[in-house]
Amino acid sequence: HFMSSSASKSAPRARDSWSGQTGFLLAAIGSAIGLGNIWRFPGVSYSNGGGAFLVPYLVALVFVGIPMLWLDYAVGHKFRGSPPWALRKIIGGGEFVGWFQTFVCFVIMVYYGAVLAWGVQYTIYSVNAAWGDDPTTFFTDTFLQVVPGDTFSWAPAWSVMIPLALVWVLVLFVIGRGLSKGVEAANKVFLPLLVILFLALVVRALFLPGAVEGLNAFFTPNWAALADPKVWLAAFAQIFYSLSVGFGIMLTYASYLKRKSNLTGTALVAGFANSSFEILAGIGVFSAVGFMAHQGGVSVSEVEGLTGPILSFVTFPKIISMMPGGPIFGVLFFSSLVLAGVTSLLSLLQVVSGGLQDKFGWSPARSALVLGVPATVISLVLFGTRSGLNNLDIVDNFINSIGVVSSAIMFAVLCAVAGPRLGVLRAHLNSVSSVKVPKLWEPLVGIVIPLVLFIMMAMSIVDLLTNGYGKYPTSYVLIFGWGSVAVAVVAALILTFIPWKHRPVDTHATVAQILADDTDETASIEGGAK
Ligand code: ALA
Repeated sequence: HFMSSSASKSAPRARDSWSGQTGFLLAAIGSAIGLGNIWRFPGVSYSNGGGAFLVPYLVALVFVGIPMLWLDYAVGHKFRGSPPWALRKIIGGGEFVGWFQTFVCFVIMVYYGAVLAWGVQYTIYSVNAAWGDDPTTFFTDTFLQVVPGDTFSWAPAWSVMIPLALVWVLVLFVIGRGLSKGVEAANKVFLPLLVILFLALVVRALFLPGAVEGLNAFFTPNWAALADPKVWLAAFAQIFYSLSVGFGIMLTYASYLKRKSNLTGTALVAGFANSSFEILAGIGVFSAVGFMAHQGGVSVSEVEGLTGPILSFVTFPKIISMMPGGPIFGVLFFSSLVLAGVTSLLSLLQVVSGGLQDKFGWSPARSALVLGVPATVISLVLFGTRSGLNNLDIVDNFINSIGVVSSAIMFAVLCAVAGPRLGVLRAHLNSVSSVKVPKLWEPLVGIVIPLVLFIMMAMSIVDLLTNGYGKYPTSYVLIFGWGSVAVAVVAALILTFIPWKHRPVDTHATVAQILADDTDETASIEGGAK
């Protein structure tokens, strides 16, 4: 009987699935739109050529983002499993790459939750502009209580730790309910709410005095920037992070789709929705920055703090304090940040939870518990303490420039050279989708993209090795930066060597399809268990 043929040690659990194409699309867009869109894109774009940045950015979207998204969708949907399972179906050792992707997600989620916690606190602080007249000192000294970069402290920063614990309870609860009842249901509420709140914010920002100057600064192209390879690298990195491609998220989400699902068309919608939101965020943020410059009687180029945490948590509070109706604007901004981040955090968690469910046959609730306890502890200890901001800065940089990029390279190369090749995956995409994938996709994904990514990563590594990172001592960077990548490698190795006790069952496949799949899956499971 098909239910018992392969998973001899435990009864297979049926895999969850999206209620339909819309649920999937909402979740995919919810994952893509995140902190990357609101706090990262506007600053990155501004400091990398302004309007001219849109050229490398759109090139990266069309020639890297979308093709990689198609690859994620193809592998997840064809092999109907989270990364370890799906990549194992391509070639036995591929499981390691799958777990590596999974642990890259784990590392990202432990600090991502912290930024959400900041957002939660700042939503509350906005009501009475709790930062007073010095938002910079308030952020670093009063709120984060951060210690200098050359020291380290385990002392809790309670104003971060408490909301952070709440964030974890909330997201683990959602993940524990499973994909359709948890993740899908949450996205159906949070994403539309985000769009409404954020549109209100952007419209308000556009009517501020000085908005036009802000937009001019944001969109005026500095064409010379296009000759700088760093600008191109910034564009590629932004697309990867923002679209959540190449490190397991979209692969996992696509694995829960029903067999007859339009993959390529959905990817195009998700890709363009994400970038539209990103550009909208740029418009909103720079209108507000223009207002700030206008109030101070300076030009936008003289305004400082237009990137990273400072833009959202120092510059925005300053703007909020200057504005009539500032508290409402602040609540809109920070709650948007939280809503955008929550749906992305859920997608990161689902990768890990799905991987555990697939490998061990655990329920979503049990997986949430097994992953949730270490994740919460690590998150609180490293990012809820007075070294939190420094730890976050280092881990974020390393896991993105090395973890995410190397995972995408290994993934693309694996699909190109091992097992069912890109031709098979392209045929799979085309057999279910509206938009047909051209043959050119194969050399693009198999050769050009990994090569470009490799060059990009090599440049970052050389830079990190020669110049170190930030103002941190070498040992600090070694432990948290290189260490976070090493942790993902070691954890992936351990999980790869644990034998499979279970195999995911596709509830939507016909019995004949499952039987046909069984032949090779049984062989590989038994081979691996010995
Ligand atoms: N795609 C997510 C973001 O933009 C990770 O933040």
